Amino acid sequence: MLWIALFLAQAAAPSQIQRGEALFFDAQQGCGSCHALKGKGTAVGPDLTGLGRLGPQAIAMAAHSTVTQYVQVIKLKSGGASFPAMMGKKDDKTVVLYDLSKNPPEKKEIAPEDIASSGSNDVWKHPPAANKIDAEKLADIVAYIKYASTGTKKAVDPADVR
Ligand code: HEC
Repeated sequence: MLWIALFLAQAAAPSQIQRGEALFFDAQQGCGSCHALKGKGTAVGPDLTGLGRLGPQAIAMAAHSTVTQYVQVIKLKSGGASFPAMMGKKDDKTVVLYDLSKNPPEKKEIAPEDIASSGSNDVWKHPPAANKIDAEKLADIVAYIKYASTGTKKAVDPADVR
């Protein structure tokens, strides 16, 4: 009988990793709408699998960062307003751009010569930084990232990801 009670208690309270997984792929928090992790999610931004071996503080700092390294502001010769974008696959004929002014980001395939200019990003903010994600949620997400990439089940303390 005892094991049934234990099983039910476990089923009722999701673990930190389960909460983190739900948040990661949630339509609102949406890390998974821009990041791949162990083959799941959408690779608009960097794949987060390699980040899992870093400590919780380092992962949180990267998520909170207001400085962008890869995002560029693109203007097309074919017209329209400039927009912040991540560049994806590129060959002689096409370049993939993920338009970050759209939510979720919109994939565009354009001809490389259609790019009128690309400049450093001063308009787009990483969502967890822009929305000041709360520490409890970020701790759950970081626990899930670490679990998905390394298999560790170690709890992440919200105090470490503020
Ligand atoms: C709208 C798309 C989008 C969403 C949503 C998003 N990210 Fe990102 N993220 C990016 C982009 C784009 C970059 C690269 C920014 C740059 O440096 O130019 C990035 C960078 C990062 C980095 C740094 C990675 C590295 O290798 O430098 C981490 C960590 C990260 N995101 C975590 C998260 C987490 C955790 C969430 C959910 C709470 C999240 N992101 C939600 C688009 C997104």
